[in-house]
Amino acid sequence: MKMNDITASVIESFSQTEDPRLKAIMSSLVKHLHAFAQDVKLTEAEWFRGIEFLTAVGQKCTNKRQEFILLSDVLGLSMMTVALNNERPDGCTESTVFGPFYVDDAPHYENGDDVSNGASGQACLVHGTVKNSDGQPVSNATIDVWQADDEGFYDVQKENLNHAQARGVLHSKVDGSFDFKSIVAEAYPIPMDGPVGTMLEATLRSPWRPAHLHFMIKADGYETLITHVFKKGDAYLQLDPVFGVKDSLIADWVNGEDGLTTLNFDFVLNAAN
Ligand code: BEZ
Ligand code: FE
Repeated sequence: MKMNDITASVIESFSQTEDPRLKAIMSSLVKHLHAFAQDVKLTEAEWFRGIEFLTAVGQKCTNKRQEFILLSDVLGLSMMTVALNNERPDGCTESTVFGPFYVDDAPHYENGDDVSNGASGQACLVHGTVKNSDGQPVSNATIDVWQADDEGFYDVQKENLNHAQARGVLHSKVDGSFDFKSIVAEAYPIPMDGPVGTMLEATLRSPWRPAHLHFMIKADGYETLITHVFKKGDAYLQLDPVFGVKDSLIADWVNGEDGLTTLNFDFVLNAAN
Protein backbone atom coordinates (compact mmCIF):
# COMPACT_ATOMS: atom_id res chain seq x y z
CA MET A 1 0.00 0.00 0.00
CA LYS A 2 1.25 3.48 -0.83
CA MET A 3 1.50 6.00 1.96
CA ASN A 4 -1.49 8.05 0.80
CA ASP A 5 -3.55 4.85 0.48
CA ILE A 6 -2.79 3.94 4.09
CA THR A 7 -4.10 7.31 5.27
CA ALA A 8 -7.18 7.10 3.04
CA SER A 9 -7.96 3.55 4.22
CA VAL A 10 -7.79 4.50 7.89
CA ILE A 11 -9.99 7.54 7.34
CA GLU A 12 -12.43 5.36 5.39
CA SER A 13 -12.53 2.92 8.34
CA PHE A 14 -14.32 5.65 10.34
CA SER A 15 -16.96 6.21 7.67
CA GLN A 16 -19.73 4.38 9.58
CA THR A 17 -19.24 6.47 12.74
CA GLU A 18 -22.66 7.77 13.74
CA ASP A 19 -21.51 10.77 15.76
CA PRO A 20 -20.41 13.32 13.11
CA ARG A 21 -18.13 15.16 15.53
CA LEU A 22 -16.33 11.95 16.54
CA LYS A 23 -15.94 11.05 12.87
CA ALA A 24 -14.47 14.47 12.05
CA ILE A 25 -12.06 14.37 15.01
CA MET A 26 -10.81 10.83 14.30
CA SER A 27 -10.38 11.48 10.58
CA SER A 28 -8.46 14.71 11.14
CA LEU A 29 -6.33 13.15 13.87
CA VAL A 30 -5.28 10.33 11.52
CA LYS A 31 -4.62 12.75 8.68
CA HIS A 32 -2.34 14.92 10.82
CA LEU A 33 -0.63 12.02 12.63
CA HIS A 34 0.26 10.40 9.31
CA ALA A 35 1.46 13.74 7.92
CA PHE A 36 3.62 14.18 11.04
CA ALA A 37 5.20 10.72 10.62
CA GLN A 38 5.93 11.48 6.97
CA ASP A 39 7.24 14.96 7.75
CA VAL A 40 9.90 13.69 10.18
CA LYS A 41 10.34 10.32 8.36
CA LEU A 42 9.64 8.60 11.67
CA THR A 43 11.78 5.48 12.18
CA GLU A 44 10.37 2.37 13.83
CA ALA A 45 12.83 2.77 16.72
CA GLU A 46 11.71 6.38 17.22
CA TRP A 47 8.02 5.42 17.27
CA PHE A 48 8.79 2.65 19.76
CA ARG A 49 10.52 5.30 21.91
CA GLY A 50 7.40 7.45 21.52
CA ILE A 51 5.21 4.60 22.72
CA GLU A 52 7.52 4.07 25.71
CA PHE A 53 7.21 7.78 26.50
CA LEU A 54 3.39 7.77 26.33
CA THR A 55 3.31 4.61 28.45
CA ALA A 56 5.47 6.33 31.09
CA VAL A 57 3.16 9.39 31.02
CA GLY A 58 0.18 7.13 31.76
CA GLN A 59 2.01 5.21 34.47
CA LYS A 60 2.97 8.47 36.23
CA CYS A 61 -0.69 9.46 36.63
CA THR A 62 -2.36 9.00 40.03
CA ASN A 63 -5.38 10.64 41.64
CA LYS A 64 -3.01 13.45 42.69
CA ARG A 65 -0.75 13.65 39.66
CA GLN A 66 -1.94 14.17 36.09
CA GLU A 67 1.05 13.80 33.79
CA PHE A 68 -1.15 13.94 30.65
CA ILE A 69 -2.40 17.43 31.61
CA LEU A 70 1.24 18.41 32.12
CA LEU A 71 2.12 17.02 28.67
CA SER A 72 -0.78 18.90 27.07
CA ASP A 73 0.37 22.05 28.91
CA VAL A 74 4.04 21.93 27.86
CA LEU A 75 3.07 21.18 24.24
CA GLY A 76 0.90 24.30 24.20
CA LEU A 77 -2.20 22.21 23.45
CA SER A 78 -3.93 23.38 26.63
CA MET A 79 -3.39 27.05 25.71
CA MET A 80 -4.47 26.33 22.12
CA THR A 81 -7.81 24.95 23.35
CA VAL A 82 -8.13 27.91 25.76
CA ALA A 83 -7.59 30.26 22.80
CA LEU A 84 -10.09 28.37 20.62
CA ASN A 85 -12.84 28.36 23.23
CA ASN A 86 -12.50 31.60 25.17
CA GLU A 87 -12.68 34.45 22.72
CA ARG A 88 -14.25 37.34 24.61
CA PRO A 89 -15.08 40.97 23.92
CA ASP A 90 -12.38 43.52 24.73
CA GLY A 91 -12.41 44.48 28.37
CA CYS A 92 -13.32 41.02 29.67
CA THR A 93 -10.65 39.26 31.72
CA GLU A 94 -8.65 36.78 29.65
CA SER A 95 -8.43 33.08 30.45
CA THR A 96 -5.35 30.99 30.87
CA VAL A 97 -4.39 27.40 31.54
CA PHE A 98 -6.18 25.48 34.33
CA GLY A 99 -3.15 23.44 35.41
CA PRO A 100 -3.15 20.17 37.33
CA PHE A 101 -3.39 21.46 40.93
CA TYR A 102 -7.03 22.53 41.29
CA VAL A 103 -9.13 20.54 43.79
CA ASP A 104 -12.91 20.81 43.80
CA ASP A 105 -13.49 20.59 47.55
CA ALA A 106 -11.33 23.43 48.84
CA PRO A 107 -12.34 24.98 52.19
CA HIS A 108 -14.84 27.84 52.18
CA TYR A 109 -13.80 31.19 53.64
CA GLU A 110 -15.39 34.53 54.47
CA ASN A 111 -14.03 37.74 53.01
CA GLY A 112 -11.07 38.89 55.09
CA ASP A 113 -10.03 35.35 56.06
CA ASP A 114 -6.54 33.94 55.60
CA VAL A 115 -6.60 31.18 52.97
CA SER A 116 -2.91 30.28 53.44
CA ASN A 117 -3.85 28.09 56.42
CA GLY A 118 -0.20 27.69 57.47
CA ALA A 119 1.46 27.57 54.01
CA SER A 120 4.93 29.11 54.12
CA GLY A 121 5.45 32.46 52.46
CA GLN A 122 5.35 36.22 52.87
CA ALA A 123 1.92 37.36 54.05
CA CYS A 124 -0.13 39.49 51.71
CA LEU A 125 -3.59 40.88 51.17
CA VAL A 126 -5.50 40.26 47.95
CA HIS A 127 -8.48 42.36 47.02
CA GLY A 128 -10.47 43.24 43.95
CA THR A 129 -13.86 43.24 42.38
CA VAL A 130 -15.91 41.06 40.07
CA LYS A 131 -17.83 43.10 37.49
CA ASN A 132 -19.55 42.56 34.18
CA SER A 133 -18.61 44.25 30.92
CA ASP A 134 -21.09 47.09 31.65
CA GLY A 135 -19.14 47.83 34.82
CA GLN A 136 -21.92 46.51 37.07
CA PRO A 137 -20.85 44.57 40.18
CA VAL A 138 -21.35 40.81 40.11
CA SER A 139 -22.36 39.81 43.64
CA ASN A 140 -22.18 36.34 45.12
CA ALA A 141 -19.74 35.10 42.47
CA THR A 142 -17.95 31.94 43.59
CA ILE A 143 -14.23 32.68 43.68
CA ASP A 144 -11.88 29.70 43.85
CA VAL A 145 -8.22 30.62 44.52
CA TRP A 146 -5.19 28.36 44.69
CA GLN A 147 -1.43 28.83 44.71
CA ALA A 148 1.92 27.25 45.56
CA ASP A 149 3.86 28.07 48.74
CA ASP A 150 7.21 29.88 48.71
CA GLU A 151 9.04 26.58 48.17
CA GLY A 152 7.09 26.04 44.98
CA PHE A 153 4.73 23.32 46.15
CA TYR A 154 0.94 23.07 46.13
CA ASP A 155 -0.60 21.39 49.17
CA VAL A 156 -1.61 18.35 47.06
CA GLN A 157 2.07 17.75 46.23
CA LYS A 158 2.99 17.29 49.91
CA GLU A 159 2.73 13.66 50.94
CA ASN A 160 2.43 14.24 54.68
CA LEU A 161 -0.04 17.11 54.55
CA ASN A 162 -3.67 16.14 54.94
CA HIS A 163 -5.37 19.53 54.97
CA ALA A 164 -5.80 22.26 52.38
CA GLN A 165 -3.28 25.10 52.31
CA ALA A 166 -3.15 28.19 50.11
CA ARG A 167 -6.47 27.44 48.47
CA GLY A 168 -10.07 28.30 49.20
CA VAL A 169 -13.49 29.36 48.00
CA LEU A 170 -15.00 32.81 48.71
CA HIS A 171 -17.93 34.83 47.41
CA SER A 172 -18.02 38.38 46.13
CA LYS A 173 -19.97 40.88 48.25
CA VAL A 174 -23.02 42.87 47.13
CA ASP A 175 -20.75 45.52 45.57
CA GLY A 176 -18.77 42.80 43.72
CA SER A 177 -15.72 43.21 45.95
CA PHE A 178 -13.74 40.46 47.66
CA ASP A 179 -10.66 40.32 49.85
CA PHE A 180 -8.58 37.67 51.53
CA LYS A 181 -5.18 37.15 53.11
CA SER A 182 -2.70 34.76 51.56
CA ILE A 183 1.02 34.50 50.75
CA VAL A 184 2.91 36.26 47.98
CA ALA A 185 3.11 34.09 44.85
CA GLU A 186 6.62 32.93 43.89
CA ALA A 187 7.98 31.31 40.72
CA TYR A 188 8.20 27.50 40.82
CA PRO A 189 9.29 24.67 38.52
CA ILE A 190 6.60 22.36 37.13
CA PRO A 191 7.02 18.75 38.33
CA MET A 192 10.21 17.40 36.71
CA ASP A 193 10.31 13.89 38.21
CA GLY A 194 8.35 12.26 35.38
CA PRO A 195 8.59 11.71 31.61
CA VAL A 196 7.45 15.28 30.85
CA GLY A 197 10.37 16.57 32.94
CA THR A 198 12.75 14.23 31.08
CA MET A 199 11.48 15.66 27.80
CA LEU A 200 11.95 19.25 29.01
CA GLU A 201 15.52 18.43 30.08
CA ALA A 202 16.31 16.73 26.77
CA THR A 203 15.12 19.82 24.91
CA LEU A 204 16.83 22.30 27.26
CA ARG A 205 13.53 23.98 28.18
CA SER A 206 13.01 25.95 31.37
CA PRO A 207 10.66 24.32 33.89
CA TRP A 208 9.99 27.59 35.78
CA ARG A 209 6.49 29.00 35.86
CA PRO A 210 6.43 32.72 36.64
CA ALA A 211 4.84 33.56 40.00
CA HIS A 212 1.04 33.49 39.81
CA LEU A 213 -2.18 33.11 41.72
CA HIS A 214 -4.92 30.91 40.21
CA PHE A 215 -8.57 31.99 40.05
CA MET A 216 -11.73 30.29 38.88
CA ILE A 217 -14.77 32.58 39.05
CA LYS A 218 -18.32 31.38 38.50
CA ALA A 219 -21.52 33.42 38.59
CA ASP A 220 -25.04 32.78 37.32
CA GLY A 221 -25.53 34.25 33.86
CA TYR A 222 -21.79 34.53 33.12
CA GLU A 223 -19.15 32.40 31.46
CA THR A 224 -16.86 30.70 33.97
CA LEU A 225 -13.48 32.41 34.08
CA ILE A 226 -10.36 30.29 34.64
CA THR A 227 -7.29 32.43 34.89
CA HIS A 228 -4.16 33.47 36.81
CA VAL A 229 -2.78 36.77 38.02
CA PHE A 230 0.96 36.87 37.25
CA LYS A 231 3.52 38.86 39.25
CA LYS A 232 4.93 41.90 37.49
CA GLY A 233 8.73 41.83 37.13
CA ASP A 234 9.02 38.05 37.47
CA ALA A 235 12.15 36.79 35.69
CA TYR A 236 10.23 33.94 33.99
CA LEU A 237 7.34 35.85 32.41
CA GLN A 238 8.80 35.29 28.92
CA LEU A 239 9.73 31.65 29.57
CA ASP A 240 6.55 30.07 30.92
CA PRO A 241 6.84 26.34 30.06
CA VAL A 242 3.05 26.17 29.57
CA PHE A 243 2.71 29.41 27.51
CA GLY A 244 0.05 30.81 29.86
CA VAL A 245 1.19 34.42 30.30
CA LYS A 246 -0.94 37.25 28.89
CA ASP A 247 0.01 40.90 29.40
CA SER A 248 -3.46 41.78 30.71
CA LEU A 249 -3.01 39.27 33.56
CA ILE A 250 0.22 40.78 34.96
CA ALA A 251 -0.18 42.81 38.16
CA ASP A 252 1.88 44.23 40.99
CA TRP A 253 2.06 42.87 44.53
CA VAL A 254 2.73 46.29 46.09
CA ASN A 255 4.85 46.65 49.23
CA GLY A 256 3.10 49.39 51.19
CA GLU A 257 4.73 51.80 53.63
CA ASP A 258 2.70 50.14 56.37
CA GLY A 259 4.68 46.92 55.74
CA LEU A 260 1.70 45.22 54.07
CA THR A 261 2.02 43.64 50.64
CA THR A 262 -1.14 44.00 48.61
CA LEU A 263 -2.42 42.70 45.29
CA ASN A 264 -5.40 44.45 43.77
CA PHE A 265 -7.01 42.90 40.70
CA ASP A 266 -10.43 43.47 39.12
CA PHE A 267 -12.09 40.73 37.10
CA VAL A 268 -14.57 41.36 34.29
CA LEU A 269 -16.89 38.46 33.42
CA ASN A 270 -18.47 37.87 30.03
CA ALA A 271 -22.23 37.34 29.93
CA ALA A 272 -23.24 33.79 28.99
CA ASN A 273 -25.20 33.39 25.77
C1 BEZ B 1 0.01 25.48 37.51
O1 BEZ B 1 0.08 26.65 37.37
O2 BEZ B 1 -0.40 25.07 38.57
C2 BEZ B 1 0.50 24.57 36.43
C3 BEZ B 1 0.03 24.74 35.16
C4 BEZ B 1 0.48 23.91 34.16
C5 BEZ B 1 1.40 22.92 34.44
C6 BEZ B 1 1.88 22.77 35.74
C7 BEZ B 1 1.43 23.60 36.74
FE1 FE C 1 0.17 27.22 39.38
